[in-house]
Amino acid sequence: MNKLNVVILAAGQGKRMRSDRPKVLHALAGRPLLGHVIDTARSLKPSNICVVYGHGGEQVRAAFAAPADADLKWAEQKEQLGTGHAVMQALPQIDASLPTLVLYGDVPLTRVETLQSLLRQAGANLALLTAVLPDPTGYGRIVREAGKVTRIVEQKDASDKEKAIAEINSGIMLAPPGALQRWLPTLGNGNAQGEYYLTDIVALAVAEGMAIATTQPRDNWEIDGVNSKAQLAALERIHQHNLALQLLEAGVTLADPKRIDIRGEVTCGRDVFIDVNVVFEGEVSVGDGAHISANCVIRNASIGAGAVIHPFTLIDDAAVGDESLIGPFARLRPGAKLGRDVHIGNFVEVKNASIADHSKANHHAYLGDATIGSRVNVGAGTIICNYDGANKHHTIIEDDVFIGSDTQLVAPVIVRKGATIAAGTTLTKEAPEGQLTLSRAKQTSVAGWSRPTKTKK
Ligand code: UD1
Ligand code: CA
Repeated sequence: MNKLNVVILAAGQGKRMRSDRPKVLHALAGRPLLGHVIDTARSLKPSNICVVYGHGGEQVRAAFAAPADADLKWAEQKEQLGTGHAVMQALPQIDASLPTLVLYGDVPLTRVETLQSLLRQAGANLALLTAVLPDPTGYGRIVREAGKVTRIVEQKDASDKEKAIAEINSGIMLAPPGALQRWLPTLGNGNAQGEYYLTDIVALAVAEGMAIATTQPRDNWEIDGVNSKAQLAALERIHQHNLALQLLEAGVTLADPKRIDIRGEVTCGRDVFIDVNVVFEGEVSVGDGAHISANCVIRNASIGAGAVIHPFTLIDDAAVGDESLIGPFARLRPGAKLGRDVHIGNFVEVKNASIADHSKANHHAYLGDATIGSRVNVGAGTIICNYDGANKHHTIIEDDVFIGSDTQLVAPVIVRKGATIAAGTTLTKEAPEGQLTLSRAKQTSVAGWSRPTKTKK
């Protein structure tokens, strides 16, 4: 627990996104920009996190209304009158006896270590996160005299000489206890933009004889904000590259670190191989020696050790056991639970079904709402008719069953241990243990039959 307030500014509209969605709700790696900033804030374990919201306010609040978000405080900024005005809206919600860290809801990739170094700089001082940029255009510039920060000047208010300053204000800053409460009400808006600038507090601090500490991020992308779709796309690539590097460092083999997307969290065992264009979403774990082929989408899943996921397989909310072979073109839907050495082949869909060790469904099948035992062989074209148009029903297939091709199992139905179901059967009643069950019209051949011929026009 840090004795600290965090204020996240998120009231801006983001006109250049050209979108009806509030800017901070646009997703980076599948999570809203603001969610990344909140996660970073949380990892500092502060006493308070207050989000200043405005544009699209209801949407923003609704996006963070889960029980896990109950730690957030909210302050509405009805009119966007500037960053100083925005922080002022948060004052009633935060603890004046603690230092306050200001973050931006549209700057998603700041490292926690960078903020920790800002916290170490602070003490009784005002601390700024700054950076030296090859092109500082647009940013507030850090004005120094004899090396000491004296004020920040915004681009639109800057003289040519000030515009030449390469050190910029990231906007992220840490104010000592009580300071914002003292300074913010005195801000004016007599500047080029007619806004209440948070940055004006720097000169106020200096006037009080307070020292201004500065710290820099390790990488400049840590302070990059999102104002347009192009900037969002650029940050997405930087973030994905960082995530890919983490996997490589953990010993995962990636066919191409540029062609993997992680929208959530992936944990991998030893000697995992991931081919190109694999998308991970939510929480995914991959066991030792697993092989994931090209063009798979894997969401909220566990993949067992030594499993092989062949190309173009979709796995959603499912568990794949050790040594299992899935795909190509397989679809595991929510509630699919596969044991060890299970084979699911092309165009097989599994939903809410458990399939025990060594069972196989290798071609074109639908297996929904079922409990399937071990060493079961499901023939091509098998359909479990789980839905009667109103309700879903459960099917049980016991160990060592053989189901011939093109079988329909009309649920609810049970196939007992070791039963064989002949190809083409429509099973509507229990199939007894160890027997052959079939339902088929008897095959007949009509001797002397001739094909119809076309009548001449
Ligand atoms: C601000 C800084 C500038 C810094 C730059 C970094 C000021 C006056 N200037 O500039 O020194 O280099 O950020 O990107 O602080 N916001 C609100 N309510 C408002 C205005 C802004 O919540 O009334 C939020 C925005 O949603 C955004 C952040 O504050 O998350 C910064 O706003 P933005 O307009 O991008 O700041 P700039 O004026 O560009
Ligand atoms: Ca900005």
